[in-house]
Amino acid sequence: MFKHEVFEKNSILLTLGILIAVAIGGIVEIVPLFYLGSTIEKVEGVRPYTPLELAGRNIYIREGCYLCHSQMIRPLRDEVERYGPYSLAAESKYDHPFQWGSKRTGPDLARVGGKYSDAWHREHMINPRGIVPESVMPGYPFLAKALLSESNIAANDMSAHLRVNAMVGVPYTADMIKMAETDMKAQAGDPDSDEAEALKGRYGEKVNVRNFDGSPELTELDALIAYLQVLGTMVDFGLYKDKAPVEWQR
Ligand code: HEC
Repeated sequence: MFKHEVFEKNSILLTLGILIAVAIGGIVEIVPLFYLGSTIEKVEGVRPYTPLELAGRNIYIREGCYLCHSQMIRPLRDEVERYGPYSLAAESKYDHPFQWGSKRTGPDLARVGGKYSDAWHREHMINPRGIVPESVMPGYPFLAKALLSESNIAANDMSAHLRVNAMVGVPYTADMIKMAETDMKAQAGDPDSDEAEALKGRYGEKVNVRNFDGSPELTELDALIAYLQVLGTMVDFGLYKDKAPVEWQR
């Protein structure tokens, strides 16, 4: 009983004691998570980003879009009614770093893919107020002129971007890494080309292949729109209808 006095009368000893007690608690809770396969939920459809989408994602980060947009639909009624099925952990498992965000000056973008046409995005990115007069989003007209072949984001070896992602666990194959630059160009080109077929062979039939920004050059805007159009579209929520909470099924 009285041994406790030693701690109570010595603040440094007490602090150390608290630290040890909290550390043990933390280790007991956290360490098992690293060894439990069952904590990682496998979800059908989730795939690594294509090189063009990854370039678009890098531009999204470079321009600080995350300062105004979140990518995380919370499991709350109002969010699900507005944005669609709430975000699954697996949907951002290949995001390094993830773009969940915590600030919504603009709407959440987790399921913006397929919501608008490419032309809508093009006009909106160049001049947001041309589409939504009361918008406070800045325009990004320079993206439509910035050639991807000259952009620091993509020109300096797209293969390296894939390789680095592979190092942190994204399942890019040697083939995907080797063909990264070809795949990047193919995705914004002719959907019937052999290169486009090869790209779909690597990343799946659902990959969007088309000229995203409507101009003949491969620009940063192509990459950004390719990225926006894939957000939230990888998982087919029709498959989960029976298991899904009621809100999903509206
Ligand atoms: C200063 C805050 C701000 C920044 C920075 C910003 N946005 Fe926005 N964004 C908004 C607001 C506000 C809206 C809603 C009005 C509108 O549609 O313009 C919006 C709307 C959007 C929409 C339409 C969403 C929907 O569901 O209707 C997209 C897509 C979008 N932004 C993409 C981007 C991208 C990509 C970037 C970075 C290049 C970006 N935004 C940067 C504030 C911002």
